[in-house]
Amino acid sequence: MQNYNPVELILAKRNGQALSSDQISWFVRSFLAGSIPEYQMSALLMAIFFRGLEEGEISALTESYISSGKTISFADSVAVADKHSTGGVGDKISLMLAPIAASLGLAVPMVSGRGLGHTGGTLDKLESIPGFRTQYGINEFKALVEKHSCALVGQSEELVPADKRIYALRDVTATVESPGLITASIMSKKIAEGAKHLVIDLKVGSGAFMPDLAKARELAQLLIDTGNNFNQKVKVVFSNMNSPLGLAVGNGLEMIEAIEYLKGNPLRDTAILTSELTAQLLLSSGLASTEAAALDIIDKSVQSGRALDKLEEIITAQGGDPRVLEDYSLLGTTRHKIPILSDAAGYVKQIDSRAIGYALIRVKAGRMKVSDAIDFGAGALLIPKVGSRLEQGEPIGEVHCNDLEAGQETVKLIKAAYALSPEPVPKEDLILEIV
Ligand code: URA
Repeated sequence: MQNYNPVELILAKRNGQALSSDQISWFVRSFLAGSIPEYQMSALLMAIFFRGLEEGEISALTESYISSGKTISFADSVAVADKHSTGGVGDKISLMLAPIAASLGLAVPMVSGRGLGHTGGTLDKLESIPGFRTQYGINEFKALVEKHSCALVGQSEELVPADKRIYALRDVTATVESPGLITASIMSKKIAEGAKHLVIDLKVGSGAFMPDLAKARELAQLLIDTGNNFNQKVKVVFSNMNSPLGLAVGNGLEMIEAIEYLKGNPLRDTAILTSELTAQLLLSSGLASTEAAALDIIDKSVQSGRALDKLEEIITAQGGDPRVLEDYSLLGTTRHKIPILSDAAGYVKQIDSRAIGYALIRVKAGRMKVSDAIDFGAGALLIPKVGSRLEQGEPIGEVHCNDLEAGQETVKLIKAAYALSPEPVPKEDLILEIV
């Protein structure tokens, strides 16, 4: 294999040139082998962030991620399905969708990520469950899915290790919002895990990596085209991320909200999105023939307790403590709960959900450095959505934290994220488009 000078490749990308498949694959492989240090990979990521990737480069990057590990394939008779989100604030949909889908006859080998930039990650949320293991070799992962119809795991030394390392680096180098990098990261995981039916929850708005529908449509096209290059069909649901999703933002708090959902106490927005995304998988796999039929069986799975039983089965199978289903204190507690009170009256015109995500990193609900530990109990409960009416002194919510000073600073930042208008503001749709 040809050797390159990493500086020349960084320079080429910095100057806006396309890299060849061979150059991309060499760079990724050398990084994983340790001969390219993190500072050079970070420089390349920043150059990609500013200069972008062409479709051929994205496919080459996706291929290099996939071939950095092994791939799984399931028997033709198994309906293997998965959902992946492009990342949001308070986005705990996977925690409900996976057990619901698995309880309905789909096999869900969900390879997820950690918090990325201002957004939360499914793995961090799951790890708020004491003992819950997310690192598996490929054979163990497949066996878990075959036995329990679902496993929720992270990238590992055998499963897209290139994404594992580069994802963590992007998180702390402000190189997340690159459509090409997002596409390679998501599609490599889904192709490697063997998903046959895939729905992407493409988040749009202030808390998303794509701020508007035009940018979101471009990303959707890249996901669909890259999927086509690997024979992977992709369905995309565009969903509104202008308001944090549900009530909780923060790992243990989101886990509690997900458990409550499966106990039959869903919040309106999470219910709409969880049902729609799960319905897309049931329709794609032929387990339901109409959307109405899909929504009906999803509802029955939750109301009957089958989805909650499935979550308990998954937690136990992955080494977690199932007592969390009844004792939420096991998911992390904090010394302080600081109320966030509105300074004025008005209608919520805008919520800077990204600022909320970043503010919560101060109380350790997310990371500033790759090596930072998460405080699983830390986070916030946030009530209003765009269009809600707030009175002066009314609670916006509360911050849960162990560090009082950081918590007080977070309260200030969260308050500043809510812009009020004296005039009524229309409520926004949650589902914007499906392609
Ligand atoms: N989810 C991923 O897996 N990767 C990204 O880059 C963004 C969201």
